[in-house]
Amino acid sequence: MKILGISCSPRKGGNTETLMVEALEGARSDGAEVELLSVAGKDIRGCDGCQACLKTGECHIDDDVQEILKAMLGANGIIFGTPIYFYGMTAQAKAIMDRTYAIGMRGAQLSNKVGGIIAVAGGVGLMDAIKDWYFYIAINHMAPASYIGAYAGERGAIKEKKREMKMAWELGRQMVQLVDSGWRFPEEFTKRGLGAYVAKKYGL
Ligand SMILES: Cc1cc2nc3c(=O)[nH]c(=O)nc-3n(C[C@H](O)[C@H](O)[C@H](O)COP(=O)(O)O)c2cc1C
Repeated sequence: MKILGISCSPRKGGNTETLMVEALEGARSDGAEVELLSVAGKDIRGCDGCQACLKTGECHIDDDVQEILKAMLGANGIIFGTPIYFYGMTAQAKAIMDRTYAIGMRGAQLSNKVGGIIAVAGGVGLMDAIKDWYFYIAINHMAPASYIGAYAGERGAIKEKKREMKMAWELGRQMVQLVDSGWRFPEEFTKRGLGAYVAKKYGL
């Protein structure tokens, strides 16, 4: 079993990454193989709306998002982590979300994976990003795990928040247990979703 954590903070060693490492350690403690991917220092470009991926199943943009898409496909559970920038997720988080159009729409390839969320704000504005990631998890027919919404401003300040650090650890363990539960979205309805519409339209 593989649990992937995607930290969408451009700040290396920041609070989101710190909580993500803790969550992945929790998952590892319950027997999962874990992988951390961070956008820090990476080339993360936005979707250009060409929609060619609906036919090819691949995104043509040659940047570091490709590695993230590949890792998402290979994971059983994915934790999406983002700092709050102006009351929402970071530009990098949104770019990754949009670019998964290439792997999500065509054949529901994210279905049945477990999704968890970590969001960190300095002091205000957590909910929109958490809500957006939950809609994303739902529309992709993933199983929702808990979210962590934490407040911390300076780099590393989250380490002082023992409760949030513990919650992150437990989120990792919860991801493993949800994957183990073998939950599956009913096939009958998967076939009727947006993915099915796209597949019919393009004869896939
Ligand atoms: C461009 C920018 C916008 C921000 N906007 C908000 C905000 O709307 N609300 C808030 O509470 N904190 C805001 N912050 C603070 C960050 O959310 C906070 O420092 C967080 O810990 C950063 O996470 P990281 O260490 O994982 O990068 C902002 C920071 C930056 C750089």
